[in-house]
Amino acid sequence: MEILSATFVKSSANLAQCPEADVPEYAFIGRSNVGKSSLINMLTGRLSLAKISQTPGKTQLINHFMINEGKTPWLLADLPGYGYAKVSKKNREVFSLMIRTYLKNRENLMCAFVLLDSRLPAQKIDLEFMEWMGENGIPFVMVFTKVDKLNKTETAENFAAFEAEMLKTWEFLPQQFRTSSTKGEGKDELINFISETNAQW
Ligand code: GTP
Ligand code: MG
Repeated sequence: MEILSATFVKSSANLAQCPEADVPEYAFIGRSNVGKSSLINMLTGRLSLAKISQTPGKTQLINHFMINEGKTPWLLADLPGYGYAKVSKKNREVFSLMIRTYLKNRENLMCAFVLLDSRLPAQKIDLEFMEWMGENGIPFVMVFTKVDKLNKTETAENFAAFEAEMLKTWEFLPQQFRTSSTKGEGKDELINFISETNAQW
């Protein structure tokens, strides 16, 4: 599949405001600053489709983008980052509830991409979030970001440690992708995955 077009649809503050659920949808989620917007721009080949923030926690709405409209259309949803410390506890709870309601009830959601910073050891908040996804039967894959910031040894060590941590609670690990938005790494793999998943719509 080629990305022929990518256009911003709308920003939604909750599930009810989201665009019509009549084409397959993929959600991008992860901690603030993990690189969601950068990855969306890299995948779509549009340098400033999703706004890249210097200030983490900036995206506080669900932003929908329509890809390949009129051909093989699908929706991409950029979700607010979770767990950003500088956002008030009250606000964090509102976002968390909003995101979880969306994930559990969005009818056309084919798969969520849970973004994880490949430089960091497994974070409690990410592990808990993935566990919640598993418990609720929401399909997701793991997408490691910013692999360009690590050398080969660090990459191998970090992935081995992450896997070991996951295997404490997971019998089988979800599918994994390694990406760099600056280098374009992982783009073909993710686009192919979306293309194959679209075929199940
Ligand atoms: P919020 O919307 O605030 O939750 O952040 P986000 O997850 O959308 O992250 P964003 O794409 O805005 O990226 C955060 C920072 O990381 C920016 O300074 C990006 O330039 C940088 N960044 C993102 N992806 C990569 C990557 O693959 N490699 C490198 N080197 N930097 C990256
Ligand atoms: Mg963002």
